[in-house]
Amino acid sequence: MMETVETIAALRARVRSWQGLRVALVPTMGNLHAGHLSLVAAAQACAERTIVSVFVNPLQFGPQEDFTRYPRTLERDTQALSQAGCDLLFAPGVAQIYPSGEPATRVQVRGLSETLEGRFRPGHFDGVATVVAKLLIIASADVAVFGEKDFQQLLIVRRLVADLSLPVQIVGAPIARDPDGLALSSRNQYLTSAERALAPRLHGTLAEIAAALRAGLPDESVRNALEQQGVQSLTRAGFRTDYVAIRQAADLSEPHGAGPHGAGAALVVLGAAWLGSTRLIDNVRVGG
Ligand code: PAJ
Repeated sequence: MMETVETIAALRARVRSWQGLRVALVPTMGNLHAGHLSLVAAAQACAERTIVSVFVNPLQFGPQEDFTRYPRTLERDTQALSQAGCDLLFAPGVAQIYPSGEPATRVQVRGLSETLEGRFRPGHFDGVATVVAKLLIIASADVAVFGEKDFQQLLIVRRLVADLSLPVQIVGAPIARDPDGLALSSRNQYLTSAERALAPRLHGTLAEIAAALRAGLPDESVRNALEQQGVQSLTRAGFRTDYVAIRQAADLSEPHGAGPHGAGAALVVLGAAWLGSTRLIDNVRVGG
């Protein structure tokens, strides 16, 4: 039977009772879909007890973003997690996580947080890093699982765990997609049916660039042209594109040089684009 707790004290008491068992944490904002449940399966594969947290973190939403309308479906999430064999659901309220209102102490992962998503969502990753650090400390799990869907977030979490010497192993899980290629996301349900029909073009565009890169790393001008063609093809399809970027998978820095990269550094092609009022992100890895 899955148990649900809403307080840090109750979570800690339950985790203490699991002394000696390997514990995994899967942090989420709820409105769970098959992508989240694939993280639960990955957690179960590497630990004996699995905790899922559901917390819509106000700190990571900008003033113009969708915090208030973000879908909250705790009853359905509880059922799905229980069915998936999750052991403990941590579903705190905002006052439990931020008892004094806005926290004075923040976690900021410099550099990695400023590029790509960080340029279009200022402060977003400080909010993510702060809540993830808190959740990792609260749960004191041995493992925490994050999706590659949010590739930049995964790198930021790895970096914060290393920099703060948190005793937790970070596991990355592959992107779960609909059959037409669209990456599963809670925000997909904002799409109208016309937008939903266009949405897989984001993955298609990134995958085309990735295929071109698999032939060997082109020089900077060709890479820039590939990025620009990606933006143009999304714009023609009806997107408003924030970025299409070819980066090194290890740290999101610009690739340097040219040449066959089969044995070289792994790359990742990342994109963010709007359909109407919905912002989609996706990425496709190359090599590595
Ligand atoms: P959320 O968007 O709910 O995502 C929770 C986790 O599920 C993240 O690790 C995300 O990368 C993963 N995920 C989402 N869609 C996925 C998909 N299609 N395939 C694989 N994994 C997927 O990311 C957050 O919440 C928050 O920023 C959080 C880390 C919980 C901090 O508030």
